[in-house]
Amino acid sequence: MSIEEQIKTLKKERQAIILAHNYTMAEVQDIADFVGDSLELSRKAAECHAPVIVFCGVRFMAETAKILSPESIVLHPNPHAGCPMADMASAKTIREYKQTHPDTTVVAYVNTTAETKTAVDICCTSGNAEKVIASIPPEKDILFLPDRNLGANLSAKLGRKMDLWAGFCPTHNKIMPEHIQQAKMLHPQAVVMVHPECLPAVVQLADIALSTGGMLKFAKESDVREFIVGTECGILHRMRKENPDKVFHSLEPSVLCPNMKKITLEDVLFSLQDLEPRVELDENTIAAAKDSINKMLEIVP
Ligand code: 13P
Ligand code: SF4
Repeated sequence: MSIEEQIKTLKKERQAIILAHNYTMAEVQDIADFVGDSLELSRKAAECHAPVIVFCGVRFMAETAKILSPESIVLHPNPHAGCPMADMASAKTIREYKQTHPDTTVVAYVNTTAETKTAVDICCTSGNAEKVIASIPPEKDILFLPDRNLGANLSAKLGRKMDLWAGFCPTHNKIMPEHIQQAKMLHPQAVVMVHPECLPAVVQLADIALSTGGMLKFAKESDVREFIVGTECGILHRMRKENPDKVFHSLEPSVLCPNMKKITLEDVLFSLQDLEPRVELDENTIAAAKDSINKMLEIVP
């Protein structure tokens, strides 16, 4: 039996569902039951009620699945797949900030650890951040964390001043305005899509900034036939598969998230065999972190 067939058989036996992020390896996306962005994956985890969820993505995403589906066994096939940006904000420092800024609303990008989510007021993803920020009364001060680029891009778009944490995504931060200028010269007909984790100077040069799920939707629904894609290259697999008649140019082929690539088919198979490694979070962390995620889901179901 091929490894894909072994995974399929075992998945059925374990009544498991495999969720994968748009940046994971092509072969992992191909065996998943559902592939999506952070928001879509959170929704899926909350509604699937599967006894076992195999989460192929980085750790904060697997933790979010556990928070939203605490009764399920949540497997994270490679526990070394973390998100460096998620580790740039700690619950301790946020609590210290809150002591000196008691009236400030703390908005956390979902790319934060479960522990950090216990210290914030509300979460958001790149897919719903604008609506979440817009829901906060204009007279309220906001601290946005951990991504200073996403925060600055939101501030500019919404005309809302926010205090920004100093975190960033090492992968998206590599994309420079010159990459966009060069790509536009090479493909003048193409529409430029970038992720809002990119530097503001990059977002300003792009035609549109969207979450990974937003980019996939835009690519499918738009009449445009040629795109320049400014985000992690793993997304090109699904883009090309879903739109065989359209052309997608990678903005810069070295834009790879090494952590998203850590989960292999072997890891998925072994995790289903052993029902390990599991995401384990204590009840208090789940309850407090769920509160900030649910506030987001109430605004953008
Ligand atoms: P999306 O929610 O847009 O998929 O983004 C997640 C992420 O980690 C981007 O780097
Ligand atoms: Fe984190 Fe950046 Fe990788 Fe997304 S691409 S998981 S933000 S390191």
